[in-house]
Amino acid sequence: MTAPPPASIPPVGDKQDKGRDVQAMFASIAPRYDLLNRVLSLGIDRSWRREATREALALTGPNGAGARVLDVATGTADFALELKATAPGAEIIGSDFVPEMLAIGREKARSRQIDILLEEGDALNLPYPDASFDVITCAFGFRNFADYARGLAEFHRVLRPSGRLVILEFPPPRPGLFGSIFRFYFRQILPRIGAVVSGNAGAYTYLPESVLAFPDPERLAGLMRATGFRTRFKLLSFGIAAIHVGDKG
Ligand SMILES: C[S@@+](CC[C@H](N)C(=O)[O-])C[C@H]1O[C@@H](n2cnc3c(N)ncnc32)[C@H](O)[C@@H]1O
Repeated sequence: MTAPPPASIPPVGDKQDKGRDVQAMFASIAPRYDLLNRVLSLGIDRSWRREATREALALTGPNGAGARVLDVATGTADFALELKATAPGAEIIGSDFVPEMLAIGREKARSRQIDILLEEGDALNLPYPDASFDVITCAFGFRNFADYARGLAEFHRVLRPSGRLVILEFPPPRPGLFGSIFRFYFRQILPRIGAVVSGNAGAYTYLPESVLAFPDPERLAGLMRATGFRTRFKLLSFGIAAIHVGDKG
């Protein structure tokens, strides 16, 4: 079955009216999303999620027993599944506003017999009470939010005091030789592979453009501090990805 093309390519950056376009785009690429992740990152995305998992679970007890963890923008649930595999005692909930992505995540959880809960929800209006999670994670979803400050405020609201937020994202490539090579790959090669494999050229044009328009790690750390988090970040794979840790004071 061929997925319908998205209504239009979402605008990039902060304070944009893009929720519906983002939903349509991910609904359209959902069947090929996992395959493209592996191909386009040469499998390195798994090691980034593992590293982010270590940070996310660092403050929970052994096995994560009793901890409640929310993976926002969970998509096909790779991060949520990694969290549960690492901390079997934790309750892991994955939330996303695209049912087509969640359906693939549920099938993976079922076939691997991993007990996680995947439910629909908008990150900008999370359907959970205040202070209801010990840990919140978000991998490669934050960049797509229509309002970054609103997203951070929601993370802060549903996190309990002393809880931890971990955001894994693609920062814009740094200046210098590696940044230039990566920029070339991102703009010239990745969209072509993405178009062929997913059948959706727009989505894989949106991906590099949204990364180039995303705040650099220092600015994102500043936004997190302004929301009330104590923050630090680390760059992975020569700065292709970044892990931001925010602890709620
Ligand atoms: C690039 S995928 C990342 C999926 C997954 N976290 C991973 O690591 O592979 C981005 C996901 O963010 C979700 N998303 C974007 N904006 C959202 C929002 N406002 N509320 C909920 N989910 C959102 C999309 O539906 C999509 O599934």
